[in-house]
Amino acid sequence: MNTLIAASVLSADFSRLAEEILRLKAADIIHLDLMDGHFVPNLSFGYPLVSCIRGLTKQPLDAHLMVTNPQDYVDNLAALGVGWISFHQETVYHSHRLIQQIKAHGIKAGIALNPATPINTLDSILPDLDYVLVMSVNPGYSAQAFIPWSMPKIMELDRIRKNQGLEFLIEVDGGVNGDNCLALIEAKADILVSASYIFGSKDYTKSINTLKGL
Ligand code: DX5
Ligand code: ZN
Repeated sequence: MNTLIAASVLSADFSRLAEEILRLKAADIIHLDLMDGHFVPNLSFGYPLVSCIRGLTKQPLDAHLMVTNPQDYVDNLAALGVGWISFHQETVYHSHRLIQQIKAHGIKAGIALNPATPINTLDSILPDLDYVLVMSVNPGYSAQAFIPWSMPKIMELDRIRKNQGLEFLIEVDGGVNGDNCLALIEAKADILVSASYIFGSKDYTKSINTLKGL
């Protein structure tokens, strides 16, 4: 599978949102970082903006829930036409139940891991997941530096996936750029999330193609 690029609108210029979304044509997925100021020390945006973005593009929307009560957001996001939802393993008691709630809407379900959360917390649920989101920065902000030991986590997830014959995708989020994308592809990451690298460049299409290794 070719590497997919999920452009995170967190670094977009919201005063020119329509124009910004139009410039992301080369992205495979639009990544939406929803924050509650509680699980992470930042607020981003909510349903009105998700709805607005839904109206601006047909690209799949990937909601990354950085909130302490992710189960309360799933049905509303489903109604808004989101195609992917991930929540943080650190936030839930009943991850299996929540995965079923997401999948019942026909939405791809993923679990995100903070940098300090080990992979083995997912051992029992891996067969149920469409994707694992490996955080390579501490969640809450864009433009942070990639934490290097995220790389062995990705390689380990790929090893587990092969050994167990599983099909979940590996999404990597945080500090992804033109310098580390090839190593991430080599480590078998399937989806690379990027905010500041894309939005900090002049030509978004060119940056997205660089991230794809083209
Ligand atoms: C961080 C968010 C990321 C962020 C990535 O909490 O989950 O999606 O937007 O930003 P960059 O690519 O700038 O690290
Ligand atoms: Zn994210």
